[in-house]
Amino acid sequence: MDAMWRKPLLVLGLETSCDETAAAVVRGFPPGPGEILSNVTYSQISEHSPYGGVVPEIAARAHAELLDGIIGTALAEAAIELAAVDAVAATAGPGLIGAVIVGLMSAKALAMAAAKPLIAINHLEAHALSARLCAKLEFPFLLLLISGGHCQILAAERLGEYRRYGATIDDAVGECFDKTAKLLGLPYPGGPEIERWAKRGNPKRYALPRPMLGRDGSDFSFSGLKTAVRQTVANHSPLDGQAKADMAASVQAAIVEVLSDRVRNAMRRFRKSHDGSGPFHFVAAGGVAANCAIRDTLAAVAAGENFVLSVPPIEYCTDNGAMVAWAGVERLAAGLTDGLDAPPRDRWPLEAVRHVESPRA
Ligand code: KG4
Ligand code: ZN
Repeated sequence: MDAMWRKPLLVLGLETSCDETAAAVVRGFPPGPGEILSNVTYSQISEHSPYGGVVPEIAARAHAELLDGIIGTALAEAAIELAAVDAVAATAGPGLIGAVIVGLMSAKALAMAAAKPLIAINHLEAHALSARLCAKLEFPFLLLLISGGHCQILAAERLGEYRRYGATIDDAVGECFDKTAKLLGLPYPGGPEIERWAKRGNPKRYALPRPMLGRDGSDFSFSGLKTAVRQTVANHSPLDGQAKADMAASVQAAIVEVLSDRVRNAMRRFRKSHDGSGPFHFVAAGGVAANCAIRDTLAAVAAGENFVLSVPPIEYCTDNGAMVAWAGVERLAAGLTDGLDAPPRDRWPLEAVRHVESPRA
């Protein structure tokens, strides 16, 4: 692909698709890594934790209240004026629609006021490209995206071209962590709590299902596991401290086993459809990739299949502004900008993002 721009690009990125209000300034050029001049994240955990999950209306209101200040801090920490950026990027979906609208409309206002291009970013693409923000990583690579809202495996062929190998047919894996934590009376978000409790638990105490294990392909399913946890907790209630730790360990073990199985199938498919002897690149991103038990097992699976695992540092794995700014850098470098009529979207599959046409053979 011919890059339109040659100099390092400076992009302001806004992220408001769920419960993090975030803004960042990143400078760089593909294939990365980018220079993160600032990365400001306000996590709305305390606003949502009384409800055990994200409440869309509360998220949208909090973004509207906080985003201005966070943008100001991001520019100040980067020691630049808005006039210095090459473009303004914002998550335009998928996500909670009211939350997405706040960030996208702010970006449109800034882009218009400063006469800069707007770049409407697909949140999943931002996660996918976060590995290139953090390290020089060439396409193609295999990506496992595991968060509270998403659970899919895809081949990232080049900017804007992603082939989905599998996805959840019901719940996302992060939801399974969060629901289990709620059933055990642990605070939101549940993933880090389950990981902490699992450390002193017996993963064999409770026999839980491993949905999709051994099946062809790379789809996931977690609703059966969630139901099994609910029934087991109800049958053994009240759970003492050790029982809670054992349940946390048992559910984490089930999740690790399922993820490994699905990822192994995807690696075999990726190897078959890509030339070369490898090693191939495998990226795990999204909040759940912060889990050390999952990371360690995925690294072992990767090694066995001739892949090398890379996981962006935790602050770039969970929702953040820097990954949105970086996705903006990549798109601007390829000449892909958007009009001020770019729509906010609650659903936006990664296969539907715009990309530069393939160069003619
Ligand atoms: O990427 P993210 O910040 O937001 C989106 O959902 O897009 O991911 C949040 C999810 C939550 O479900 C949270 O419980 C989970 O990531 N999570 C973890 C861990 N840290 C965060 N799950 C398992 N283990 C962790 N250490
Ligand atoms: Zn996310």
